[in-house]
Amino acid sequence: MTSEASLQYVEGYQDEDDHLAEARRRADEVGVTPIGPAGGATLRFLASVLDARAVAEVGTGTGVSGLWLLRGMAPDGVLTSVDLEAEHQRHARQVFSAAGFAPQRFRLIAGSALDVMPRLTDDGYDLVFVDGDKVEYGEYLEQALRLVRPGGVVVFDNALWHDRVADPERRDAETVAIRDLLTQAATDERLVPTLLPVGDGLLAARRVG
Ligand SMILES: C[S@@+](CC[C@H](N)C(=O)[O-])C[C@H]1O[C@@H](n2cnc3c(N)ncnc32)[C@H](O)[C@@H]1O
Repeated sequence: MTSEASLQYVEGYQDEDDHLAEARRRADEVGVTPIGPAGGATLRFLASVLDARAVAEVGTGTGVSGLWLLRGMAPDGVLTSVDLEAEHQRHARQVFSAAGFAPQRFRLIAGSALDVMPRLTDDGYDLVFVDGDKVEYGEYLEQALRLVRPGGVVVFDNALWHDRVADPERRDAETVAIRDLLTQAATDERLVPTLLPVGDGLLAARRVG
């Protein structure tokens, strides 16, 4: 199995620039936990492999994951990102603009994910990335499966939830919801899933049906 030292090495493998550092500083300021560098690099990789022109995100935060995604997407790709907190999105907007992304490259929608996701276009997205309320992960999967095109990919952050998912003693609502999500993804015939031990865990699944 991978040792702690190797996991740390993976996190430090790719440098983050000043724009990502600024997004992380702002995340600290507002009290949200952004995706780690290795998770961010995985998102950029997937967006690039898919040549993604349309990505949907739940949980904008201050824009760490969004910036990694934008950097992997096609040059004319549009990131649609939802967050309950308009204040978080104000930070993300400033981060994306400072990093050189034109306003037409990102659409930030303030609102609750379960209100906004049903209004987004069916089969309209190459990649759906989820990093919102963990208790709602199962419902997000159902919505994400409607939004992602056949052949596209859905990704959930915090799939290992601070080592709690692997610990059978942990039965809090968030841990249970994430375990249920993992079971749902593993048994859904429309999906080819993989659970990656990157950062706090990434569940990635390709829609094949
Ligand atoms: C972990 S942070 C996202 C970090 C971001 N993905 C990044 O890596 O920079 C989670 C975000 O989800 C938002 N959020 C929490 N519950 C939500 C909900 N029900 N609907 C939409 N956004 C929600 C929070 O306001 C917060 O900004």
